[in-house]
Amino acid sequence: TSFSLVLLPECDSTNSRLLADPPPDDGLIHVLATDLQTAGRGRRGRVWQSWPGAGLTFSALWRFAPGAPVPAGLSLVAGLAVARALEELGVEGVQLKWPNDVLIHGKKLAGILVELIPGRGRTPAAVVGIGINLHLPPDAGVEYPTGVTDLAHCLAVPPGSNQLLGRVLAQLYRLFDLYAAAGFTALRGAWQQRNAFADLPVRIVGEAEELTGICAGVDEDGALLLQTQGGLRRVLSGEVSLRLA
Ligand code: BTN
Repeated sequence: TSFSLVLLPECDSTNSRLLADPPPDDGLIHVLATDLQTAGRGRRGRVWQSWPGAGLTFSALWRFAPGAPVPAGLSLVAGLAVARALEELGVEGVQLKWPNDVLIHGKKLAGILVELIPGRGRTPAAVVGIGINLHLPPDAGVEYPTGVTDLAHCLAVPPGSNQLLGRVLAQLYRLFDLYAAAGFTALRGAWQQRNAFADLPVRIVGEAEELTGICAGVDEDGALLLQTQGGLRRVLSGEVSLRLA
């Protein structure tokens, strides 16, 4: 498989662009990157802020083989790909916060937004949007509960955005290939090794019923496993998010 790469100086949201105007189904993985996003979107209706030169901002459109199952666990795979790319660059202490935030020392370094394009009877395509903080302005990101960080705080010589993009795409391609062949099961162990909240008390926010328990990892579909007083519960990622209890 090869990539097609389009780089826009400015764009509203790379996810929105690919969703509104999907590129042809020509066997390529289509990647859209931008230097500046003016209406970046996060999970759960939040805004993803951008500043010129402050980060790597891109989305990739993935199409699955006809008849492939609905891609459960896909957004966790994207987080793992970012984690591996950062580790290759020498970043230490990379952790994953379910479903798909990438943390360093508890602070958010990257966010991921996966959105599906319905496939009219076929497997949906996935738009995988990734934002990685490279060099944030000092007043950035006050909204995240435990704070945000950037690569300039993790590495003496942070990579350029093109170098980082190349590494993340290579990892995404490798892991999505494994995922397409064997599902999330094949990557579950690697994800759990980096689970920021493993065995810690957590609460789920964003659902009518507030759920608390001990984080017991993820299952073979990428659902969160929560040991509650009422027994083991499975939480799907849809519109919820996780906090330390
Ligand atoms: C989150 O942490 O809530 C997810 C943030 C995802 C941000 C990326 S940046 C590229 C792509 N385009 C968007 O509008 N959002 C994603």
